[in-house]
Amino acid sequence: MKLAILSRNSKLYSTRRLVEAARAQGHSVRVLDPLRCYMRISTDGFEMRYKGAPISGYAAVVPRIGASVTRYGCAVLRQLELMDSYTPNSAAAIARARDKLRCHQVLAARGIGLPVTVFGDNPDDTGDLLAMLGPPPHVVKLNEGTQGNGVMLTEKLSASRGAIETLRGLYANFIVQEFIAEAKGADLRCFVVGDRVVAAMRRQAPKGDFRSNLHRGGSAKAVRATRAEMDTAVRAAKILGLGVAGVDLIRSKRGPLVLEVNSSPGLEGIEAATGVDVAGTIIAHVASHGTSPRKRERNTDLTDS
Ligand SMILES: Nc1ncnc2c1ncn2[C@@H]1O[C@H](COP(=O)(O)OP(=O)(O)OP(=O)(O)O)[C@@H](O)[C@H]1O
Ligand SMILES: [Mg+2]
Repeated sequence: MKLAILSRNSKLYSTRRLVEAARAQGHSVRVLDPLRCYMRISTDGFEMRYKGAPISGYAAVVPRIGASVTRYGCAVLRQLELMDSYTPNSAAAIARARDKLRCHQVLAARGIGLPVTVFGDNPDDTGDLLAMLGPPPHVVKLNEGTQGNGVMLTEKLSASRGAIETLRGLYANFIVQEFIAEAKGADLRCFVVGDRVVAAMRRQAPKGDFRSNLHRGGSAKAVRATRAEMDTAVRAAKILGLGVAGVDLIRSKRGPLVLEVNSSPGLEGIEAATGVDVAGTIIAHVASHGTSPRKRERNTDLTDS
């Protein structure tokens, strides 16, 4: 099968592993940098080119679209979908998953556990907003933060107010959550492919921190997720329309709570911690859906992206 990996950099671990896995399973595979794909859109047909040569005939594409290129990357992916390539994560689903507030709203509405979350715009409402959340400690998070940057634990109401005022002053978007103390600085990354959790790892914060991000010195080890955790992760990915997702959960007294659903989850940490050939699983999943492009239902979701 002719496969494409949509990725900015063929040297990245995840990209390399997907290429390796595709070759090992007998596919022809090419890494396409989305920013080098360009296209002609017309009612009489589409044309996409890559570094001067036409692109066509990819049975399936595995998107690895970083947050900084979401818009252009999704436009390229949408075009490939319109040209009948299968993708486990549609452009519409990736764009939706990138909007954290929206994900919280949609997942909560469907009964998925989440830390109680508040957000508001006007400084006059801060007092009432925090009253709606409940007593501190609180976790104040920048919407655009990653790798634990911009995630603050505030033990007192005055500290929550201070953090919020500072972020408002910087015109930053943020949310405020209840602090799940019983998670004890650990979270659980469930790697979902199709309707299964294929690998799971527990990340533990270094001493003195509550953030378990590996970039902040957290440590990872393989764990068996519980049935409830696996169900939550698979359902969350499904609700957002993602066939491949990294679902981050924390363990709370009231069961698993979703922190984030990542549409381009990295492979290095999870493969190293668990020894699972996650790349191979993704390729096998994609190949099983990309087999007959003519007969396949077009999965392009153009209703809202
Ligand atoms: N409400 C909370 N209660 C307890 N711990 C939390 C809470 N929110 C986050 N944490 C801890 O802080 C870490 C970082 O938070 P989070 O994952 O939300 O932000 P991020 O990693 O910076 O961004 P993202 O994962 O969205 O790219 C989590 O992995 C978790 O260990
Ligand atoms: Mg995180």
